[in-house]
Amino acid sequence: MGGADTHARPEEKVFPVSDKIKGPQGVIKVPYRILMGPGPSNAHPRILAAQTLPLLGHLHPPFLALMDEIKAGLQYAFQTESKYTLLISGTGHAGMELCLANMLEPGQKVIIGNNGIWGERCADMAKRYEANVIELKCPPGQSFTFEEVKKAVEEHKPALLFLCQGESSTGVQQSLAGMGELCHQNGALLLVDTVCSLGAVPFFGDAWGVDICYSGSQKALSASPGTTPFFMSQKAHDRLTSRKTGVHSYNYDLNLLGKYWGWYEGRFYHHTGIVSLWYGMREALAIVYETGLETMWKRHRELYDQLWEGLRDLGLEPFAENPADQLPSVNTIKVPEGIDWLGLNNYVMGKYNLEIAGGLGPSAGKVWRIGIMGFNATAANIALVIAAFKDGLQSQGFHGAKKTAS
Ligand SMILES: Cc1ncc(COP(=O)(O)O)c(C=O)c1O
Repeated sequence: MGGADTHARPEEKVFPVSDKIKGPQGVIKVPYRILMGPGPSNAHPRILAAQTLPLLGHLHPPFLALMDEIKAGLQYAFQTESKYTLLISGTGHAGMELCLANMLEPGQKVIIGNNGIWGERCADMAKRYEANVIELKCPPGQSFTFEEVKKAVEEHKPALLFLCQGESSTGVQQSLAGMGELCHQNGALLLVDTVCSLGAVPFFGDAWGVDICYSGSQKALSASPGTTPFFMSQKAHDRLTSRKTGVHSYNYDLNLLGKYWGWYEGRFYHHTGIVSLWYGMREALAIVYETGLETMWKRHRELYDQLWEGLRDLGLEPFAENPADQLPSVNTIKVPEGIDWLGLNNYVMGKYNLEIAGGLGPSAGKVWRIGIMGFNATAANIALVIAAFKDGLQSQGFHGAKKTAS
């Protein structure tokens, strides 16, 4: 017969609290930092305030109404009329995995534009779902030309094409013009990563024929990490419902998630929505709508110009050499010869509480990365970054294109 466990035996003693959690007052302490790396960027105070509101049940009518508001906000942010919008519970990686898990069946061909770490990760994930992965490569720091993509799509006739609009490891922006039409003429669907680009640079989900897309909450949308904006087109929905095999992931099965998010009649408990983070995203999307996408795009562009004017004056150069390839939201700056990039990062963190990031994947050790995203996208922050770079470089004896002997 079963029964409740007790802790009557001598070895079942309750451990005392660890010293690690015993602060003087027992209250969490976090330093304030200006996050000017590739993300997370600082969250908007209105979003953080929303996250402190009382919890609701994940199926309570006021919470379901809030989810409907989020869906409408996502339609605006992605510029789509598709009703298939939702927030994924998980970060950008979850968005990438969800799209692959739902759009690919074992053996199906996927072309992955790989010009940085996000193409690499996508190829890794697609292989785990047993897809037939064809990697289209170009040198890090460059984007794909339409002709290169066209040749690959026409030759391989894939089920899916992956492109990353904002390659944050190399600071490269991928043009999406004509890519949707190209895919549809060849029986493919277009999957786009907008984690580091949505809200910072123009994106037109419907007009560009994007079929399935995920973004990032903690970048230009100025919310907390942990929940991922998503939409798919009717074509992608048709692909989902005509699969021969089931979706191999329960957590990311869009058939089930759609039932929770009200794509169909009725609501269904799939998992517990991330209540507080969804309050935050509701506010983030309201701020996007109130500000206006065009105003946001213009502001990011102007600050990118301001940043590069200052950096070039210091003798610094972009890693993405072609101006048309440069991503305004994540800027990659070549580390001059003889300069200790990590030393500079630590110096500005210590002196200014300012985060400047190093490179990632193919740019590791070669660049610094500066984010211009959302709430952090202000002229004052850009001026601070330039001043901190000047100070940090001078502290290492760099006064222009050449390092002087110290
Ligand atoms: C372009 C891009 N895609 C995907 C991701 C992964 O997002 P996360 O770290 O939120 O999982 C990132 C993260 O920086 C990114 O920049």
